[in-house]
Amino acid sequence: MTVPKITLNNNVQIPQLGMGVFKMQDHKQFIQAFQWAIEIGYRHFDTAAIYGNEKWLGEAIKKAGIKREELFITSKLWPAEFDNPQKAYENSLKRLGLDYLDLYLIHWPAPDYEQAWQAMEQLYQDHAVRAIGVSNFMIKHLEKLQQQAQIMPAVDQVELHPYLQRPKLLAYLQDNDIAVEAWGPLGQGINGVFAEPILQNLAQKYHKSVAQVILRWHLQRHAIIFPKSIHQERLQQNFDIFDFELSTDDMNAISTLDKNQPNGSDPNDDEHLAQTKLRPVIN
Ligand SMILES: NC(=O)c1ccc[n+]([C@@H]2O[C@H](COP(=O)([O-])OP(=O)(O)OC[C@H]3O[C@@H](n4cnc5c(N)ncnc54)[C@H](OP(=O)(O)O)[C@@H]3O)[C@@H](O)[C@H]2O)c1
Repeated sequence: MTVPKITLNNNVQIPQLGMGVFKMQDHKQFIQAFQWAIEIGYRHFDTAAIYGNEKWLGEAIKKAGIKREELFITSKLWPAEFDNPQKAYENSLKRLGLDYLDLYLIHWPAPDYEQAWQAMEQLYQDHAVRAIGVSNFMIKHLEKLQQQAQIMPAVDQVELHPYLQRPKLLAYLQDNDIAVEAWGPLGQGINGVFAEPILQNLAQKYHKSVAQVILRWHLQRHAIIFPKSIHQERLQQNFDIFDFELSTDDMNAISTLDKNQPNGSDPNDDEHLAQTKLRPVIN
């Protein structure tokens, strides 16, 4: 099974499904999960400098012996490093043992993200990275960026799941040709999302798990997803979502679950954004 690809606004193609590695904090588990993922067919991996595991991802990639061009690797610029994105990028590459990234994102819209974006544009113009984008940017941040940007972000990676659907942001991204990436696509498995009756009924109807129904819903909303799991059977399950389709009525039923309820930090919270600039990347 080859994962379908989405064409970004600069014509780079990204596999719509990948694996995220946030909170994979055990080295042995990490290497094992990556190996399972590769065997299953995953080729897209999402990390960040602040996750502290770029080195392990690099080690796992090397071990797998897959051709570099078959992989799609994303990492992120942490706000504490906004003063020198070029250096931060080089450090990420060094830790990953790679000579380019497929996608590099500004992790949060912390103060001075406009200047950081200029440096991201330079990296792109220097052909150091195949695509650049942002993460946790709301409409107001994108509008501000648009006033000065020469290159608009290829993607915006934001928290999205049945309890946080962000219809206005998604419409804005679509209108502006920015692809949407959903972080925490399974709602991180918390707040009772797996026990939600509407989702359980759909799981029964389609002979799939609740997780598969949620992931399929994202695909049909044209979101790029990279659910994280350290378990082989879950990695397999999360990959087996291309053999069924939710009906329009069922998509609409999931829309009714929106509570505008985030699990993670709020991109509108200035205090959180300021904190990201104080927390150093330790690797
Ligand atoms: N840009 C940002 O600010 C940001 C923030 C957070 C995350 N992210 C990215 O988004 C990726 C995914 O988000 P996330 O890891 O926070 O949350 P997630 O993928 O929504 O959920 C992961 C949780 O769900 C469990 N899980 C995975 N597959 C499952 C299945 N089929 N059935 C039941 N439980 C399942 C995992 O447990 P096990 O591992 O024990 O299986 C883990 O506890 C991250 O890894 C990271 O790459 C980005």
